[in-house]
Amino acid sequence: MALIDKFGRPITDLRISITDHCNYKCVYCRTGNEGALYADLPFSEYLRMTRILVGLGIKKVRITGGEPLLRKGVIDFVRELSKLPTVDGDPLDIAMTTNGHLLADMAHPLKEAGLNRVTVSMDAVDPDRFARITRVPNGYDNVLASIRAAKRAGLEPVKVNCVLMRGFNEDQIIPFGMFAREEGVIVRFIEFMPLEEDRVWSPEVVVTLDEIVQRMNEYRPFVEIPHERSETARRYRFDDGVGEIGIIAPVSHPFCGHCSRIRITSDGKIRTCLFSIWDHDLHGQMRRGASDDELAEFIRGVVQKKEQRHHIGEPDFVPASRTMVHIGG
Ligand code: GTP
Ligand code: 5AD
Repeated sequence: MALIDKFGRPITDLRISITDHCNYKCVYCRTGNEGALYADLPFSEYLRMTRILVGLGIKKVRITGGEPLLRKGVIDFVRELSKLPTVDGDPLDIAMTTNGHLLADMAHPLKEAGLNRVTVSMDAVDPDRFARITRVPNGYDNVLASIRAAKRAGLEPVKVNCVLMRGFNEDQIIPFGMFAREEGVIVRFIEFMPLEEDRVWSPEVVVTLDEIVQRMNEYRPFVEIPHERSETARRYRFDDGVGEIGIIAPVSHPFCGHCSRIRITSDGKIRTCLFSIWDHDLHGQMRRGASDDELAEFIRGVVQKKEQRHHIGEPDFVPASRTMVHIGG
């Protein structure tokens, strides 16, 4: 039987982090120094967890991190994932979120192994600004090359995530509009959420959906097009049909009511929400020798505890028990 939480939301999307190491230190995510790390698990254990979840009705698996391409063996992991049979017999949708630093040479082998599509994080279309946000020098050319390589390899649609922060990159809205049109990628602007290690979030730093729409309209008229209910992004097209933009607005327009996601962290904990204040130790159950059926029961129980919604910006907001890099994007 499919996974449905107590608010009637079907859980069909799994995001699994395979490491919380990252070679970037983006200001909206990591601290400027090395930061803490949790354990990575062997791929065989992620595969077992995913197999059980796919058996419970998961249709889409997104590999996240940290930076997933830092993990040796990731291509073989994708190949094994692609063999997992889904409940309805359709192929499993396998995607990855990456910072793109190492993707250029891996795009083709990943596609051959069964990866369907990628999302690449890129927060400025200007090398200097990019370096200021990621806090690594000279990453921009690699990431641009990766986006192009991903397109050539057919990892489509290629999506580009841009977290907007006032004072860093709010002037990149129109340049990214042009970029989406020229490169044939879907650029998604994301409202900055309080999930970063450096605790710099405040409502004033968030560039909201309304502001993005208004600014983009100054460049070219663009209109909203329909999106799936469980999709995080609202979708927009320019008047001439060239280029697609998404806006992910968890702060100004929360989308928890149709959330279909569950997450596994690199150390094998289940998180039912990005903003959970606790997690559930699936790996601990495995270590104690639980059978597949027992793990499936454990997962069913956890899904019933999924939070109704997050409370970003409200007086009763309690920060999540982990920051984004230790959860997975
Ligand atoms: P697809 O929709 O499969 O293409 O996945 P994607 O990773 O490209 O986009 P997705 O919508 O899954 O996630 C993009 C970004 O949206 C993430 O990096 C987060 O910043 C944000 N996001 C994703 N899931 C959630 C969620 O459950 N809650 C909140 N508040 N934000 C989320
Ligand atoms: N707020 C919003 N999005 C974030 N991401 C990381 N940290 C944050 C944050 N604090 C997004 C980035 C990256 C993905 C893994 O998560 O866009 O692409």
